[in-house]
Amino acid sequence: MSYLIYCTTALIIFLSLFYVYAKYKLSYWSRHGVKTPPTNLLFGNFKDCLTLKKPPGEVMREIYNSADPDDPYIGFYIFHKPMLLLRDHDLIKQVMITDFEIFPNRRFGSRNQKDSIGLDSILSIKQPRWRYLRGKLTPFLTGQKLKNMLPLMEECGKPMLRFIENLSTNESGQNNCEMKDFSSRYVNDVIASIAFGISTNSFDEKENAFWKNGMKIFKGIKRAIMFIIIFFIPEWCPLIEPFIKEPAKYFREIFWDSMNTREKMGYKREDLMDSMLTLKNGEQNPIYKFEGDNLVAQLSSLYIAGFEAASNVIAFALYHLARHPEHQATLYDEIQTHLTGKELTVNLINKMSFLDCVIFESLRLHPPLPVIDRISIKDYELPGTGLIIEKDSSVYVSVNATNQDPKYFLNPHDFIPSRTEIEDKKFYESLVFGIGPRSCIGQRLALLMIKVSLIKILSNYALYYETDKKITLNGNDAIHVFTYAADGLYVQFKKRYNARE
Ligand code: HEM
Repeated sequence: MSYLIYCTTALIIFLSLFYVYAKYKLSYWSRHGVKTPPTNLLFGNFKDCLTLKKPPGEVMREIYNSADPDDPYIGFYIFHKPMLLLRDHDLIKQVMITDFEIFPNRRFGSRNQKDSIGLDSILSIKQPRWRYLRGKLTPFLTGQKLKNMLPLMEECGKPMLRFIENLSTNESGQNNCEMKDFSSRYVNDVIASIAFGISTNSFDEKENAFWKNGMKIFKGIKRAIMFIIIFFIPEWCPLIEPFIKEPAKYFREIFWDSMNTREKMGYKREDLMDSMLTLKNGEQNPIYKFEGDNLVAQLSSLYIAGFEAASNVIAFALYHLARHPEHQATLYDEIQTHLTGKELTVNLINKMSFLDCVIFESLRLHPPLPVIDRISIKDYELPGTGLIIEKDSSVYVSVNATNQDPKYFLNPHDFIPSRTEIEDKKFYESLVFGIGPRSCIGQRLALLMIKVSLIKILSNYALYYETDKKITLNGNDAIHVFTYAADGLYVQFKKRYNARE
């Protein structure tokens, strides 16, 4: 009996202390005059994400929408850690661009710089190593390099078109294909080819090793939890390191295989592996040496950053085109006008302005990475607000909520490629790739591979969508840091009478 009383008393004391502690921690923003949505005593404002009910991008959207339309920012908590979500466009530009020197790093990844390949890369590396590394990797993706990669992308388009051709049809002669799986196979083949220099055919060999190991990085609830930890609770990264090592082992093997073969044969392919070889054999700076796993880490990070994002955009763009035959027809006409009787070139692709509008409108509605963040390296006063952001604090931007804010967009959730009401088009277009010096390094490469796939598909097939079912971004299959449609994105293809490969 006395043991029971002892335990109960201890529990009551513990809960009371926890209550007082949590209440104090969760009053950080009110003590600084910043509004927050209602908070949970344990999880802060991230309960639905941490209990795997909603993806973080949707939780962040709700936090954004819980503010008043003109609020420049809103505070929130992950567990008891205070974070700031910026809403005002000028403040976003101020932090991401003007005062980048105070916000050069993101929270992403581990504090431990010796950890395995996925984590010690350009995605997570901190200043001043980041600037050096970024300067070395930027020349990988010059306009000329992209032009050289175009034939490799076109090559990967061939099995993609064959796959559509061979899709089985139902009794009414209709086929139905899930776009995310479909586009991932094309992007997987492109990145395997331009980054690792290996030829894969993920349409015909559905379970090839490159594809399977890529899937191991992203698919499944275990992986979703890992990504949530890496992005939002990086202090926990040491707990998940063993799970990151397995795909890393595969990428390490194929990297060295390909690198050693090239070095031995003196063979050039004008791809990312060639650029990596140049760095390996060039002069080394102690700040970041291009040797051993450092080399593997950078190519793997381009794969990790690019694979889900680019395939996601292709899938959503095809879905929207299938749902909007009027926009599909405009795009088809544009492709025909520029391409009839001509070879596909980067210059021709760049002339297709409606294609750009389609891709950016799809990106506005479904940014693959719906949240970006920065950490301050010292105390900083947010201009015009009097608010001090303390050293090591995290500042977030909700890309999807900002880009669908009714304050800036008429019918913000509709797919309208030729929007005319927007004042700062450049801002919302760039936001999907992040803005400022730390924005996406692969933007032009991504846009090129996305455009090649859309041009190839639309030149040969008309797209249809049969049901009125709306896609949902919540649900078990959509719990991830990247944007997913919970029940997939299904589209039907019908061959055009004047198809051209
Ligand atoms: C449409 C497809 C893509 C989208 C929407 C996208 C979006 C983004 C976003 C939002 C960021 C974070 C930027 C920030 O924090 O401000 C980012 C970073 C990055 N992306 Fe992409 N990305 C795409 C494709 C790619 C591709 C194909 C590659 C690889 C070649 C790539 C490589 C990277 C890298 C390396 C970073 C980190 C840059 C740094 O920290 O310096 N991305 N991307």
